[in-house]
Amino acid sequence: MLLNDVKDKKEYRGLSDAFVSRVIKPYTLQYNEYNEKEKKKLIKDARARLRELYGAFLVPGYERRKKYLAIMTKWNDIEKCERILSLHVSSQERLRYYSKLYSKLQSKIHYKTILDLGCGMNVFSRPWMGHVQYYGIDVNKDDVDFCNAYLEKFHLTGGVRWGDLLSFDTFVKTDVCFLFKVLEGLEALERGSTEKLLKKITSPYIVASFATRSIGGGKVISARRLKWFEQLVPGAEKFNLGTEVYYIIKRSS
Ligand SMILES: C[S@@+](CC[C@H](N)C(=O)[O-])C[C@H]1O[C@@H](n2cnc3c(N)ncnc32)[C@H](O)[C@@H]1O
Repeated sequence: MLLNDVKDKKEYRGLSDAFVSRVIKPYTLQYNEYNEKEKKKLIKDARARLRELYGAFLVPGYERRKKYLAIMTKWNDIEKCERILSLHVSSQERLRYYSKLYSKLQSKIHYKTILDLGCGMNVFSRPWMGHVQYYGIDVNKDDVDFCNAYLEKFHLTGGVRWGDLLSFDTFVKTDVCFLFKVLEGLEALERGSTEKLLKKITSPYIVASFATRSIGGGKVISARRLKWFEQLVPGAEKFNLGTEVYYIIKRSS
């Protein structure tokens, strides 16, 4: 089966079937999967796209995170949490700003429960989040298991679910929902997915972020590209911190 062929490599095995199928779909229109040569190209292109959408966030030495979790003795061990966060490009770039970010958000939103969509390793920023219940969703099974291992090890309430965000009909209601650096990837996969996703989120506040520099903190990327998003969330409060721009969206209940 094509899906299994594409996933038949260690780095892709943990991705959800729904997500991989979504990525494969356009290539099945471009190539004939029943022709051996074309099928090989299809698999190669689909894997390259998966790497762009997922693999590009991982830093070499990603496996070391398990060692750091094993020697962690308290949930708010900042040094170990920082080491783990620095093994995922997205959280690595935010590392110096976590404290400021959550102080700012807490001054604007009173939250005790968080839903983090496309969470990556963000659960390891719990030391700065304070005492909250944390729920996350991500498409990568290894990451999800690892995040849950941390929550379970320290008996922290909450949990991280494995799944493709575009396949959920609704989401658990929390005080705030984070969408950190995830929406552009979803739009690239399926145009219009942000609008659909926003409608399914039931939390009264959403905080969405976008990179202001290309991956790894490189070139500045134009803020004008986010016009499409700003039109979807008129009146959202916007601020820049580090290499991200954040939008706080208050839903009308
Ligand atoms: C750029 S990273 C951001 C990670 C985290 N939000 C942060 O900013 O630290 C994007 C994350 O979204 C996840 N992701 C991408 N597409 C997804 C989908 N369709 N469903 C669930 N998670 C997805 C990836 O696995 C990755 O962890």
